[in-house]
Amino acid sequence: MYSKAWVLLCVVCVVVGGSLDYMDSDTWGRPFQASGSRRQEMMRFPPPDISDREPTRPEVGPIAQSLSGQFRGSWMESRRGRRFQAYRGIRYAKPPVGELRFQPPKPILNYPEMVDASKEGPACPSPTRPGYFVDEDCLIVNVYTPGLIKARLLPVIVFIHPGGFYSMSGRSDLAGPHYLLDKDVVLVTINYRLGSLGFLALGNRQAPGNNGFKDQVVALRWVQRNIAAFGGDHDRVTIAGCSAGGVSVMAHMLSPMSKGLFHRGISMSGSLTSKVPLPTDRLDNAVKQARMSGCPEDDMTLLYECLKSKPWREIAGSLLKFYEFGYDPLVIWRPVVEPDFGQERFLTEEPMESIRKGRVHAVPFLVSQTSGEFFWKAFTILKNQTLMDSMNANWTNIAPIAFSLPRTDSLDKLTRLRLSYLGEKPLKNDTASAAGLGQLYGDAITGFPVHRMANLICRHSSQPVYYAEFTYVGNHSHYEHPVTKKPSNLAAHHDDLIYLFSLNYRFPMIGVDDSLDSKMVDKMTALWYNFANTGYPVPLGTTNELSSVSWPAMKPAMRNYLRIDKEFTVLQNLHEDRFQVWDELYPIHY
Ligand SMILES: *[C@@H]1O[C@H](CO)[C@@H](O)[C@H](O)[C@H]1NC(C)=O
Ligand SMILES: *[C@@H]1O[C@H](CO)[C@@H](O)[C@H](O)[C@H]1NC(C)=O
Ligand SMILES: *[C@@H]1O[C@H](CO)[C@@H](O)[C@H](O)[C@H]1NC(C)=O
Ligand SMILES: *[C@@H]1O[C@H](CO)[C@@H](O)[C@H](O)[C@H]1NC(C)=O
Repeated sequence: MYSKAWVLLCVVCVVVGGSLDYMDSDTWGRPFQASGSRRQEMMRFPPPDISDREPTRPEVGPIAQSLSGQFRGSWMESRRGRRFQAYRGIRYAKPPVGELRFQPPKPILNYPEMVDASKEGPACPSPTRPGYFVDEDCLIVNVYTPGLIKARLLPVIVFIHPGGFYSMSGRSDLAGPHYLLDKDVVLVTINYRLGSLGFLALGNRQAPGNNGFKDQVVALRWVQRNIAAFGGDHDRVTIAGCSAGGVSVMAHMLSPMSKGLFHRGISMSGSLTSKVPLPTDRLDNAVKQARMSGCPEDDMTLLYECLKSKPWREIAGSLLKFYEFGYDPLVIWRPVVEPDFGQERFLTEEPMESIRKGRVHAVPFLVSQTSGEFFWKAFTILKNQTLMDSMNANWTNIAPIAFSLPRTDSLDKLTRLRLSYLGEKPLKNDTASAAGLGQLYGDAITGFPVHRMANLICRHSSQPVYYAEFTYVGNHSHYEHPVTKKPSNLAAHHDDLIYLFSLNYRFPMIGVDDSLDSKMVDKMTALWYNFANTGYPVPLGTTNELSSVSWPAMKPAMRNYLRIDKEFTVLQNLHEDRFQVWDELYPIHY
């Protein structure tokens, strides 16, 4: 069955690499959809094996000892040449396999034997390129630390990876530590279960849902229990995430399970609050998964038992069949508000309601979006006559799929959106349509939901909200023109990560020199470090990289944001003219 999934994926690779020429970058930066040319590049220049850079006698790794056990790590070297300790692939929960599949995570509190944390662990199951290390036994943390500095514990950043809740991982090829570890910070990256294996939500006692989030909670509890042994301060934990990870950060701010586990939050390009309230189950996805896996669709107990018996490769490999129109819908899984069956619940009420009632773990919160987000999705439609024709002819049915709108939305609403972004004319393969459609994709999936979240939180949290738009475009982007290989003039979804993490599955390391990209790494890592350290991203006079910047918090009456480009600029009212139509169509009381 694995090979069947691979045939399917290779079809996509060919399609993406060949005819859909604009779509060089894929939705979430997933390795498996890399274009043909990108694949060859990867084969010619494989990402450096981290162990290559370890000092001699790598078998003598550093050892950390915590309340729970002993861990043997390895050495790595940062961008500026600092030697630091890496502890990778540490299980924080029992392997979620067999009877534990679809069950909430079972934490590991004690490690009877020395844990070999000297090697990279697997990614959780999702479609990846052949030979990539994937396993259902994937609930791991990675810890990177410079060690104690002047005998003081360091602030901790826990990074929750992106990937739409159905792809990517916390592995160091997708969330590499080489930039942040030039700062005095402990970085933790984590895996959590993905797709149906993480988010099956039947609305019943057997599978109330949110297991992928409960994994994250157990990882955060692991941090509380163990991180001091790695030089980290468990009273200064920042949870940070991009896209699905950004959604997760917001969710932890509301979850009763996450209370007290963190002290600041960073949500990039992802929001839990969107147009409509969250559902209480995802029977729609469960039934689709059952159909793909040849399982009963009507009886929930039979469906559950049947899916539990299927090989994980088969379940993960069916991801592409969730797409209904081209590569849409992009958003397949979301959190659910769990009905109460006496279980430990991750979300107990609708997030917008929680925020409005002030039931938020109020912490300093950094919220951002990029200038382009999903603009490139327009090319995938306009360059494909079939897709363009059906979007033109069948807007009422396609728009809800493409733009993550309720399937029940009225013709009036959908027409209003269309007019607002595209005017009266049909879509054409031209720059005007590309601009309008690209903006609609970006605003629908990310821009407006983030706008809504920032505006709600800044009204109801007792702690400051720092809002930003990332507009910098450097040498690389998650969208690069297939022929010229040049980025566009808009920053794509995930582009801010390029300056925070080494992403060697896809981009070369940004060296230390006078280039703007190098300076951007210094600035972005300084923002994160300062925020993790003090709760304020730009403390006065403490860091050279950011010397002349001030970043006032966003207030309901003075909606400041920082534009992050070559220069940093403070502005107000981020794209509020564009978001107005959404606020009118999906009104809430802020
Ligand atoms: C256009 O999209 C359709 C539907 O996703 C796909 O089947 C077809 O192969 C695409 N055509 C080209 C030329 O890429
Ligand atoms: C769209 O226009 C581009 C040039 O801008 C061209 O290469 C491509 O073939 C066109 N695609 C379609 C489906 O018309
Ligand atoms: C319109 O789109 C829906 C959903 O993809 C599809 O089921 C239907 O067949 C389409 N109708 C036409 C006329 O293309
Ligand atoms: C892009 O890379 C080139 C070659 O390394 C470098 O000279 C240039 O400054 C870089 N541009 C930016 C914006 O960093």
